[in-house]
Amino acid sequence: MTDLNRRNFLKAVGGASGLLLFNISNARAFINNASFRNPLKLPSDRGMFGLLEPSAPFTLTALETEYEILPHRSTQLLAYEAEAGGRQYINPILKIEKGNNLSSLLVNHLQESTTIHWHGLHVDHKNDGHPVYQIQPLDEYPYDFSVQNRAATYWYHTHAHRRTAFQAYYGLASLLIVEDEDERQLTGNLDLNFGETDIPLVIQDKTFDANGDLVYSRNPMGATDGFLGDTIIANLTYRPYLNVSSRIYRFRILNASNARIYRLAFANSRTSMPFYLIGTDGGLLTTPQQVTEAFLSPGERIDVLLDLSRSRAGETVWLKSLAFSGANDCGMMGGGGMMGGGTGQCASLPNGSSFSILKLNVTRRIPYDKKIPAELSTITPIETNDAETRRFTLSFSMMRWLINGLSFDMDYVPVTVTRGSTEVWEITHPLTSMGMGMMGMMNMPHPMHIHGFQFHVLQRINSPYHVRRLALDGNGVIPTDMGLKDTVLVWPGEKVRIAIDFSHNFPGSQRYLLHCHILEHEDNGMMMNYEVV
Ligand code: C2O
Ligand code: CU
Ligand code: CU
Repeated sequence: MTDLNRRNFLKAVGGASGLLLFNISNARAFINNASFRNPLKLPSDRGMFGLLEPSAPFTLTALETEYEILPHRSTQLLAYEAEAGGRQYINPILKIEKGNNLSSLLVNHLQESTTIHWHGLHVDHKNDGHPVYQIQPLDEYPYDFSVQNRAATYWYHTHAHRRTAFQAYYGLASLLIVEDEDERQLTGNLDLNFGETDIPLVIQDKTFDANGDLVYSRNPMGATDGFLGDTIIANLTYRPYLNVSSRIYRFRILNASNARIYRLAFANSRTSMPFYLIGTDGGLLTTPQQVTEAFLSPGERIDVLLDLSRSRAGETVWLKSLAFSGANDCGMMGGGGMMGGGTGQCASLPNGSSFSILKLNVTRRIPYDKKIPAELSTITPIETNDAETRRFTLSFSMMRWLINGLSFDMDYVPVTVTRGSTEVWEITHPLTSMGMGMMGMMNMPHPMHIHGFQFHVLQRINSPYHVRRLALDGNGVIPTDMGLKDTVLVWPGEKVRIAIDFSHNFPGSQRYLLHCHILEHEDNGMMMNYEVV
């Protein structure tokens, strides 16, 4: 690609609205399962998603690049490029031991401002990637912090002001894996090997044009619903398969989509298979939870074990997303209705559609006698007896998603928290009446995310049926709410109560964010500063 083309690339896609869509195949919702012929891309020691265990400061250069996502086609992307130990990485999967220092220089070779947010990490505000710290093209920003979080699958991504959705869609995101003693014990017990039997899985939805380039189309309703692609990819692999043997596999799954929610399940030819949820956003649960499905909204991670030790050679197992209702961007309107006319309004693969994500081919039987441990880790419950309750209400008005009636203002801090205190945050998503005729869109679920601190989900009240049926007890909490969380999906009609311990050891007051992780909602202002003083 020439320099001129590169320049045109960002201009063209950056300011586009109402781009024409050229589907490379029609009726994409009906994915032909026989076509999962591309080996799932796994992290090697270099290249795209290469595993980088930084032992020294390193540079992440945000730049424009190309990569083969669709077979034999090259797709223009934005990515982080790194070099370490003489090797080149693109969007490296970073792995670091708890307690160690992460020191990385961001160099901006994009044509617009950017910043890196270390999603899920407990860092001071200067290292948090808040858009107030975004840097101009050709500028640099040093990130330097000690990793205080327990072992888990975190991630890092752009947090550019009003441009996060665009930049993340084009590729500025990857994983950050923290390790500790509990993690090593599990890995040892089950004989797991990262990249072989411990599989990172970054799930995204994209739309490609006839050349293989990404299409990011805004519809006439602007940024109010969120982008849904018609093609599901995992680790930037189109219709991927993975050859497996008869043993336990671990999948660390990140939903790095802009707006799509997945209802994940494993299934063989006959029926859906139980699997074990062993971790969520902030690391291992205390004990494994046997489940048959798990919702995963943008920003969230789950860590699961799939026991294939009794599978026969020749068997096929699918990772799928099951159909669900209650998140359709246009369903209640009836196929477009008054909002029709936009390319993305009634997405060709709506939220809640069912599709396959990854094909697992059991290719051989091997001796394997490891058992899933009954205990994984310890989590101290947060004491909430003296906690103050703070209320957040999500709403929609004048084409904007709001938190407590407010749209994001860079300089305004509506919430001040005392350091060391524990608070209960109550997030309410009131059901909107049919009155406006926009109910389908207005009743979207919102994955609410908090920077700086992990939290505990205490209670779900008034959950829709498909969530309520997964509840573990009278508090309405579901398996994926357990453990430590930094993102929680709030469904239409729900009230979700979470507990946060605001203890930290950073000097001075720290400014963080609360926002919806549907990236178009975030960019559109569904975000709020909060400060810990
Ligand atoms: Cu992963 Cu502020 O976001
Ligand atoms: Cu975050
Ligand atoms: Cu939202």
